[in-house]
Amino acid sequence: MYRYDEFDQEFVESRVAQFRDQVERRLDGRLSETEFRPLRLMNGLYLQLHAYMLRVAVPYGTLRSEQLRMLAHLADTYDKGYGHVTTRQNMQYNWPKLGDVPHMLADLASVEMHAIQTSGNCIRNVTCDPYAGAAGDEIEDPRPMAELIRQWSMLHPEFSFLPRKFKIAVTGAPTHDRAMVRAHDIGIEIVRNAAGETGYHIIVGGGLGRTPVIGQTLRAFLPKADLLPYLEATMRVYNRFGRRDNKYKARIKILVRETGIEDFTRLVEEEFAALEPSDIAVGREELDRIAAYFAPPEYRNDIKAFDLSAQPEGFRKWVDTNVVPHKQNGYAIVNISLKDPERAPGDITAEQMRAVADLADAHSFGEVRTTHQQNMVLAHVRQDHLRALWDELVKAGLEDANINLIGDIICCPGMDFCALATARSIPVAQAIANRFDDHARQQAIGEMQIKISGCINACGHHHVGHVGILGLEKAGVEFYQVTLGGDATQTATIGDKMGAGFSQEELVDGIERIVNFYLDQREQGERFLDTYRRIGTPAFKEALYAKA
Ligand code: HEM
Ligand code: SF4
Repeated sequence: MYRYDEFDQEFVESRVAQFRDQVERRLDGRLSETEFRPLRLMNGLYLQLHAYMLRVAVPYGTLRSEQLRMLAHLADTYDKGYGHVTTRQNMQYNWPKLGDVPHMLADLASVEMHAIQTSGNCIRNVTCDPYAGAAGDEIEDPRPMAELIRQWSMLHPEFSFLPRKFKIAVTGAPTHDRAMVRAHDIGIEIVRNAAGETGYHIIVGGGLGRTPVIGQTLRAFLPKADLLPYLEATMRVYNRFGRRDNKYKARIKILVRETGIEDFTRLVEEEFAALEPSDIAVGREELDRIAAYFAPPEYRNDIKAFDLSAQPEGFRKWVDTNVVPHKQNGYAIVNISLKDPERAPGDITAEQMRAVADLADAHSFGEVRTTHQQNMVLAHVRQDHLRALWDELVKAGLEDANINLIGDIICCPGMDFCALATARSIPVAQAIANRFDDHARQQAIGEMQIKISGCINACGHHHVGHVGILGLEKAGVEFYQVTLGGDATQTATIGDKMGAGFSQEELVDGIERIVNFYLDQREQGERFLDTYRRIGTPAFKEALYAKA
């Protein structure tokens, strides 16, 4: 994992001191909320329905165990004993008191963490495939690239006041996109060209929000050395031409759409050609220095084959759903579900964070990942340690075996926390998860991604859910619109809107009807999405609205 150098550490500490002073001035009234707002947003602090909300950056979703323990300490000391993993791999606290925030930031700085650039119109935390460096299907580990982009984008003087926020996601596994690169302002895939060289496929203009768009190819193959100059050129074009007159048209996706991808590409290529790459590009030595932090851990070669048949059923079910193959013989990637039907999706208690940190130390080289699906991952677990690990997960209440199944719902905070919400989303997620709580039934349904947002800003990614749910409100009554057939992977698709919305109670019945319809119609090996694509919208729509 990457470690701060002296400059990073000094910088983060000086920002904490600066913010401490700003908070003091806010608390004693020398700064008004209007004056304070831009200052707090530069430090990831939002003001929500009931309280402040602090969003802590987890760079490309990677944490050392000691960092996770510090996040647990924050949850215990300054919040209500839990934190929330977001759809951009960060950790959010919903209840901090303003006077405590400088202490929280100081605590974070002591373990090389901060909340800078987790809000505001800047380049946000770079997100990444949570299986990076462990997945057998990746061409190359994307984390060195993610770290490079983090360093380049952090406090970039030219890109601190963009027309709008800017999100970049990277993956090294273009055939199994787990980072949602096509729904980002810029998405980057590591690819191989005909000559066998690795480089980057640059995708631009994707995004969700009120105008969902799937990203398009900006450059099919970019040589590796050109990465930062090319990103710089793209950002310059956006910064210059992006619309600042209308907040809702300010994202790069609108610029790309209004300019057309051909003209947009030409503008970027011209800017790129005019750049002096040596001013921006990073030398071999620095690239090697960064890459060394992500060297594979010291795997053992003598791990005995692991016999599942003698193990208890609960464990085998968990292995079936939550454990995936590792590129290294004898190891496995373990997904830890944060989707207990009784809790808000993505919530994790301080005690559970500590349990995961201990498990990371005992079984995964002290490293933990967060995922955009609001779960956690231990990336390098010995197969013969799986049982011991599961026993501890059971004790911590983290053994839900529902990864990628109908209970693994992505959900935004909605009306329970968010000032922009038009409807509640967490109770809807819980109602659906409870309806389908039976593990055998979830298994029988197979891969199915439900994603829920509490307003059209789409933080819960509903547009790209196999089943998307959008909470709206009319005359004081909440209702829910459904989209079907969305997809967040390499075959990214925006879901098709169905018709009139449902009340929460009707909605759960409607979901059950389409699930049953799919089970009835599916052919051998089909997932919900495959059956939906084969049969088409009208039949599913009919099932959704069928009267009981
Ligand atoms: C609770 C306070 C929150 C507020 C006020 C808020 C506000 C917004 C707004 C206004 C947008 C639309 C921006 C645009 O399209 O330009 C947005 C998008 C988004 N937010 Fe949030 N959000 C909040 C919480 C969250 C949380 C907790 C998550 C993750 C679980 C999240 C993840 C996202 C994502 C992924 C988008 C996607 C839109 C895109 O990139 O196109 N947000 N949010
Ligand atoms: S989708 Fe809407 S309700 Fe949900 S977190 Fe985003 S802004 Fe809030």
